[in-house]
Amino acid sequence: MGITGTIHILASHTSVGAAILFAILARKAYKEDRTDLYEYMRKYGMFLLIFSYVIGSITGPGIWYTATAASPRGISALIHNFVWVWATEWVFFVVEVVGVFVLVYSIGKIDRKVHLKITYLFALASVSTLFLIIGIISFMMWPGNDMWFTTGSASDAFFGSNTFPHLIVRFGFMVAMSAVIGFIIAGVLKDEDLKKELARKLSVIGFVGGAIVMFGFVWYIQTLPQNAWDQFHAVLWDGEKTTRIILVLLIAAYFLFAFFFPKGLKLPVTVGMLFLIGIIGVWPGEKMRESMRKPYVAGTYIYSNQIIARDIPGKGIKAEVPAVEEHGILKVHPFVPKQLKTITDENKVQTGELIAKLACSNCHSIEKGAKYRSLPDLFIARGMTDKENIKNYLEVVYSGAFSYMPTMRLPDSETDALATWLETQTK
Ligand code: HEC
Repeated sequence: MGITGTIHILASHTSVGAAILFAILARKAYKEDRTDLYEYMRKYGMFLLIFSYVIGSITGPGIWYTATAASPRGISALIHNFVWVWATEWVFFVVEVVGVFVLVYSIGKIDRKVHLKITYLFALASVSTLFLIIGIISFMMWPGNDMWFTTGSASDAFFGSNTFPHLIVRFGFMVAMSAVIGFIIAGVLKDEDLKKELARKLSVIGFVGGAIVMFGFVWYIQTLPQNAWDQFHAVLWDGEKTTRIILVLLIAAYFLFAFFFPKGLKLPVTVGMLFLIGIIGVWPGEKMRESMRKPYVAGTYIYSNQIIARDIPGKGIKAEVPAVEEHGILKVHPFVPKQLKTITDENKVQTGELIAKLACSNCHSIEKGAKYRSLPDLFIARGMTDKENIKNYLEVVYSGAFSYMPTMRLPDSETDALATWLETQTK
């Protein structure tokens, strides 16, 4: 999902930034009768068609498909709040796809004024898709404003404190990306003067985009819910700070390089930078956004393990934590095989493993030595390898002492089974 997501973000963000860039270039070309710019737009548009619209359209559904498998309730929450917003986004997306085809294939064939209007329409449709989708995905971090809990209305879900800063960060990144892709296309131009002119303009656009990202980011982190803020500060930022600063400096150096040395914009450099931004920029950035939401996967009410944490009167949703705490996750969960619903001496290790799968495995690998916060490894690292110690520490985990984990106390019998299984794994 990370790989698909990174490719998708590069592709989709480029498309919105490029749509705005096209509108600016088309206006200039029309006003100043610059036919050479049309050639650049045609090349850029062709690249966009393949990179953003073919690759973007394949990876987009890929993300939703994987996310639905990993977190059905998270995606269900989005659908139940935003089905019409999503439908609207699709209408704009269709306009965008048709728009980019018309725009590329009609260059030089239709009246320039009409062509200019098509670029405006394309830009408007692109920015609209951005606006709508950001409102939807911002809900995963923060459920709109607090009114939503009681009204359950789509607009309360959409206009959260986090939505606009999130929008600004993405918008700035899109503008910067239009320059990064613009350099790739400018690099292959034969006309050295045009290459120089475009490289200079694009680097200025890149700097503007970068400045918007930084402003948006500072605003963004101030609008995070408490759990995300704690995560950001305590765990993530220290690990990320150095790479982030290096990345910003590197991109700034790249824009300066393009400004002063446009001849150096050769394919290995321009494409290499695109990959670098994907690998050290987008990937960890998105990972951070995913991690910060913990313990929730959406709306600060669905825990990552798919259990509903609180009542949402506006949507008629009831918290499930009390039922799990009273009857146990094995009884409450709908997909537990009959023979494992009740813990016995014979099935204790097996039920313990199943409890770990149901309650913990959305965030933890359950195999020893595995990559993602392996549960056995965490206990081994803390020197807790016998059952009593494990049980005591589980009580701490349940208590909400770690803000990134669900506050949910499994009944004693399940804690005992979980600890019995964990003990077998920590040896
Ligand atoms: C919503 C995601 C999530 C769920 C669900 C979750 N955890 Fe965690 N847990 C985390 C994160 C994030 C960390 C921090 C890991 C790190 O420091 O690398 C963590 C850390 C831990 C630690 C180490 C705490 C410390 O720092 O001393 C233990 C022990 C642990 N989890 C046990 C569990 C158990 C047992 C379950 C299931 C009952 C569980 N977790 C469910 C996210 C989760």
